[in-house]
Amino acid sequence: MQRIFSGIQPSGIPTLGNYLGAIRNWVKLQDDHECLWCVVDLHAITVFQDPKALQQQSREMAAVLLACGVDPHNHILFLQSNVRAHAQLAWIFNCVARLGWLNRMTQFKDKAGKDRENASVGLYAYPNLMAADIHAYHATRVPVGDDQRQHLELANDIAQKFNHDYGVDFFKNIEPVIMGPAARVMSLRDGTKKMSKSDPSDQSRINLNDDADTIALKIRRAKTDPEPLPTEAEGLAQRPEARNLVGIYAALTDTDHAGVLAEHGGKNFGPFKSALADLLVEKLAPIADETRRLLADPGAVDAVLRNGAERAAAIADPIVAEAERLVGFLRA
Ligand code: TRP
Repeated sequence: MQRIFSGIQPSGIPTLGNYLGAIRNWVKLQDDHECLWCVVDLHAITVFQDPKALQQQSREMAAVLLACGVDPHNHILFLQSNVRAHAQLAWIFNCVARLGWLNRMTQFKDKAGKDRENASVGLYAYPNLMAADIHAYHATRVPVGDDQRQHLELANDIAQKFNHDYGVDFFKNIEPVIMGPAARVMSLRDGTKKMSKSDPSDQSRINLNDDADTIALKIRRAKTDPEPLPTEAEGLAQRPEARNLVGIYAALTDTDHAGVLAEHGGKNFGPFKSALADLLVEKLAPIADETRRLLADPGAVDAVLRNGAERAAAIADPIVAEAERLVGFLRA
């Protein structure tokens, strides 16, 4: 059975985009893989986080993942900072990766923006830590969104250079499991921008803890164009907002654009939006309820995470110890 690793940042309540783009797929992958699911708080502090808020958000993210169906018994759910191996291997990878490789990372350029000089060194070295996350477990498959593809290529470059430099065949080649474009959920205010937890407008996204009224209101206010829905999928090509709403509907009903338009094509947005809002409430309300139930007993969530960290460390520690031996660290 192949081992899967994936991570999600604890930066606020996840959105519908995180759910359809990542979390829902994680749950499906549990059927036929051995999975490690990691809340990546070390990655989160590459930009400043309020300490209290970070603690709270880490626990909340874990609760949401559990509520969505992440299975902490047959698989492993844990916090990155709770397993020392990540930071230990990341340091070694900092010394393997080349400046030139990191300079090509488009996400750093996007995130650092114009004020590059003021970005943290951690933000720059972020992909090395991500490589360590995966290689510390010899995981071979990594579900990610398309925006993380370049980071996985870097993780493979690091593994190859390590193996070459130390004359071993130790770190494995990893294969991205890229989540389909159907799962790419866009902002409700601008169909060309990704739905994001960090968008200043709360109206741009559905949060996994939004209540039914909020969901209905956000969908009613979602940007659209004046035309009715097309009857064929091709008719969505130049209509990003319409395509986004149809895509969300398709993802939630496990069909495609054509499938949704067979039922709703030719309708005005009014009735379609109300069907979409009902569907969202039906799918998301149980998740919000379960999250609330779990968070009522934070100690129980923490116990799940502690158990996950112990089992994760049992896999990663020997692998990282071997990497340290290969590098030449003396176990004095
Ligand atoms: N960088 C990933 C993101 O922002 C999160 C992440 C951290 C991750 N470590 C990982 C994803 C390891 C996959 C594997 O989406």
